[in-house]
Amino acid sequence: MKEQIMESVQTDKLKPGQILAEEVRDVNGRLLLARGNEIQSNHIRIFKIWGISEVIVAGARHRKDNLDAPPDPELVEQVRENMKFLCRHVDLEHPAIKQIFKISVQFRCRHNLAEPQGNLHVIKAEFPHEPQKINFLEEMNKKKIILPEIPSVAFELNEVIANPMSSAEHIAQVVNRSPSLTALLLKIVNSSFYGFPSKIDKISHAVTLIGTREISGLALGISILSIFKNIPKETIDMYSFLKHSLACGILSRVLAAHLNYNQTEQLFVSGLLHDLGRLILYLNFPIESRNIITRSRNDAKLLYKAEKDYLGCDHAKVGQQLMKQWKLPMILESSVRYHHKPSDAPYLIPATIVHLADLIVNSLGIGSSGEKFVSPLDEDAWEKLELSPSCFEKVIGQAMHQFKALETILHA
Ligand SMILES: [Fe+2]
Ligand SMILES: [Fe+2]
Repeated sequence: MKEQIMESVQTDKLKPGQILAEEVRDVNGRLLLARGNEIQSNHIRIFKIWGISEVIVAGARHRKDNLDAPPDPELVEQVRENMKFLCRHVDLEHPAIKQIFKISVQFRCRHNLAEPQGNLHVIKAEFPHEPQKINFLEEMNKKKIILPEIPSVAFELNEVIANPMSSAEHIAQVVNRSPSLTALLLKIVNSSFYGFPSKIDKISHAVTLIGTREISGLALGISILSIFKNIPKETIDMYSFLKHSLACGILSRVLAAHLNYNQTEQLFVSGLLHDLGRLILYLNFPIESRNIITRSRNDAKLLYKAEKDYLGCDHAKVGQQLMKQWKLPMILESSVRYHHKPSDAPYLIPATIVHLADLIVNSLGIGSSGEKFVSPLDEDAWEKLELSPSCFEKVIGQAMHQFKALETILHA
């Protein structure tokens, strides 16, 4: 009898006409395509939209993938040691953390993210003095600190999103007023993140294909982050900050879809903007902010706690002030304000999703908003999510596949 050969093929490398050897399901377990079907180009597009990173096809020659090779035991040991240090504020016995820890070790080994243990203890003597204490909110109330204005395109988009009568044409009109936003959005919709077979060259077309809420959410997040693009390099590595933010946005969205929470685009924006308050701190107090980062690392203290000690409030509170001033939706404000303590949030589920996404992204080591350590899990909020840690492998895999497709926009 002739042996049937099967091969796992990355979705990006699939060709129409190949035969599916194993069924493909989305995060919610819905069947996308049954085994035995011939794969068409629209199937490939659907797989990409759902973040399916690879499928099993029949008839191809077996290929041994490098990813199957076991990682070097020395590397694994080094990464495990790194992780134990970075997770010093976390309960490693909690089942969710155990699973995140395991996946993070594998991920860091695969991406060569091992660091010499000495580097993690970043001891720099350049700030020998105690940072000067400031009361950020008081300074803001006295108008000594002025928060930036919301970009006009973001303000208009927010109005359009809030109005249920808004049409695809309305959204396209607002976006088209900003050529840079239009160019970036078209780059995203033409990326393999969405995987449309033909080129989309109009925002109105993108809106009809992807949906008004999704496009507005993307546009809102991008236009807000764009106002911070000129922060000097010495103050913060913006590329690393955006990587952290984008990964959190995508993971929040995938977690929301997995939980059947219907406002997935709201979660994407919340994840994207959750650490925005930190940019305000870096902009207004660049020297003090660097000083606080160094202090927190030297003392192995969580950065948001060090912020509270020296600035009277943390970046989550500053982010909330910004969301309030810009009149962004309450769910967004709540998720930004409480992403480190979601059990206090008025909108608990979305805040907990962002909290979990932030914890996972920090643990995986994708970019950084300044924090080096993995922050502790809010166990009360976690209980309310009713999520099984066994889903993490699949959810993180899907999010990372989507992240890879969108990462190019960070170079824009
Ligand atoms: Fe944060
Ligand atoms: Fe964060």
